[in-house]
Amino acid sequence: MFNKINSTLLLFSICFLSCKEAKKENTIQNQEIEISLKKSYNGDFLIGTALNTGQIKEVDAKQTTLITKEFNAITPENDLKWEQIHPEKDTYNFEVSDAYVAFGKKNNMHVVGHTLLWHSQLAPWVNEIKNKDTLVNQITKHINTIAGRYKGKIDSWDVVNEALNEDGTPRESIFYKLFGDESYLELAFKLAAKAAPDAELVYNDYNLWKPAKREGVIRVVKNLQAKGIKIDGVGMQAHWSIEGPSIEDIENSIIAYSDLGVKVMFTELDVTALPNPWELDGAAVEQSYERYEGDPKMDPYVDGLTEEAKQKIAKRYEDIFNLFLKHKDKISRVTFWGVNDGQSWLNDWPINGRTNYPLLFGRDNKPKEVYNNVIALKNKAK
Ligand code: XIL
Repeated sequence: MFNKINSTLLLFSICFLSCKEAKKENTIQNQEIEISLKKSYNGDFLIGTALNTGQIKEVDAKQTTLITKEFNAITPENDLKWEQIHPEKDTYNFEVSDAYVAFGKKNNMHVVGHTLLWHSQLAPWVNEIKNKDTLVNQITKHINTIAGRYKGKIDSWDVVNEALNEDGTPRESIFYKLFGDESYLELAFKLAAKAAPDAELVYNDYNLWKPAKREGVIRVVKNLQAKGIKIDGVGMQAHWSIEGPSIEDIENSIIAYSDLGVKVMFTELDVTALPNPWELDGAAVEQSYERYEGDPKMDPYVDGLTEEAKQKIAKRYEDIFNLFLKHKDKISRVTFWGVNDGQSWLNDWPINGRTNYPLLFGRDNKPKEVYNNVIALKNKAK
């Protein structure tokens, strides 16, 4: 009798324990099969996104969940630009930038600073400066204050953004004009290296696939290197369309930049399927095409993409990510310019008020079919 009870108890506990084990295994499996971009591309390169002010402030819990699940790198879409963070000579706005950095740290993300020096979205008071010495002083204060405040917290700085013309010559920005040459880049990189010694320092620009512009980047990087000034990477913005640029041009730039001994990053990836009022070059934010506003020909997918357009975008994203995977040894990060289609700047640029679909998540924050295509590439590659 006693033995019988004992063996029943034994059986019972074995069953209990093995059920518990099975349950534990199940949870592990479930965790493992919880798909995300950052997990799928883990070990290849970081997968980033750009956050707008609301996303930084976590106003929408659904978006916060999506951001932390899918991405392991972040860039502030606007809040660290000069006009936002330093709008008046002696006024700095650190409320959102502090929240941004805290968000990244809290979620163990790679935190990008965008950007220390850029002719666009510059505070108006800087444009009033008339001589080089004053500009040198102000750039010095700006970089020391901001890069210094986030020393050890911002992992990567876009030190200078968009210093080049399409043919690779220096852009005639206020910085170039008052310095009389490109040496303002030297100043900016030197200051950033001193104020944030552990941060990765990047030159960032659009259309860096263009052969002529590529030569300009090579000149800039080689000049800094020759002078012993730290530069760690080239950021290719990657505002692309379903039509171009060619994979070959992008690939040639990846190889050329990597040959300089710096990392390559894709810092602002999006793919537009809308007609472009092009003959417009690249992504210069100043350009706008008001005359096309409200023209239905320029905004064909207000009620959703056609099957054909969806497939074109999917194929384009596949080609792009296949290229990235081919060169994963040279690429450290791929950042999408925004979290979801609703947030994308491409709804308002270069024509205001259109309906664009350039990212992997829809207006409802759900992954689109193209998300599955991008994830599936990794399963194929395994
Ligand atoms: C864009 C933002 O996404 C918009 O919200 C803003 O109105 C204009 O700037 N190149 C860059 C980014 O380096 O900072 C720009 O971001 C897009 C082009």
